[in-house]
Amino acid sequence: MIFKNAFSLSLVAGFASLIALSSAAAADEEIPLDPLTGLKMAPGWEMVRNNCITCHSAKQFLQQRGTRATWDHVITWMQERSGLWPLDAETRGTILDYLATQHGPGDSFRRPPIPADLMPPNPYATAARKEYEEKKKAGQVK
Ligand code: HEC
Repeated sequence: MIFKNAFSLSLVAGFASLIALSSAAAADEEIPLDPLTGLKMAPGWEMVRNNCITCHSAKQFLQQRGTRATWDHVITWMQERSGLWPLDAETRGTILDYLATQHGPGDSFRRPPIPADLMPPNPYATAARKEYEEKKKAGQVK
């Protein structure tokens, strides 16, 4: 009798987890994609569309994953290096919420990239730059 109960209990638990799994998958599939950009039309997606696909396609970040901090770093880096305009706190927050939720680190994520300001100086980049400058001066490169 005890065994029978334990068996039916595990059956119930098994079914419950199956249902939980399939509803989690369904919830993910239910978010429709914007046919133009491929963005998941989850809360905040218009803000991302309005600010993030002027210079490059959404594919630039659709394949990427990162924590909120990683995405924040990417945005700052783009503002400093690539001409991304200033974003007010609310806009930036909405974009970060979207990216961290829809493109957050999954189970298979190894670790977030190391922020550039924590990386040691790269001696090879400096040597390559010097060589380039010299070749340029000598008219060997355009
Ligand atoms: C003003 C132009 C511009 C806008 C707007 C812009 N980006 Fe970019 N972004 C760039 C450029 C240029 C690069 C490529 C830089 C490079 O590879 O050297 C880039 C690269 C990227 C990358 C690749 C980073 C990597 O690791 O290679 C990601 C991710 C990205 N952008 C996300 C976004 C997001 C999210 C937004 C909206 C908040 C956005 N971009 C808006 C110009 C822009």
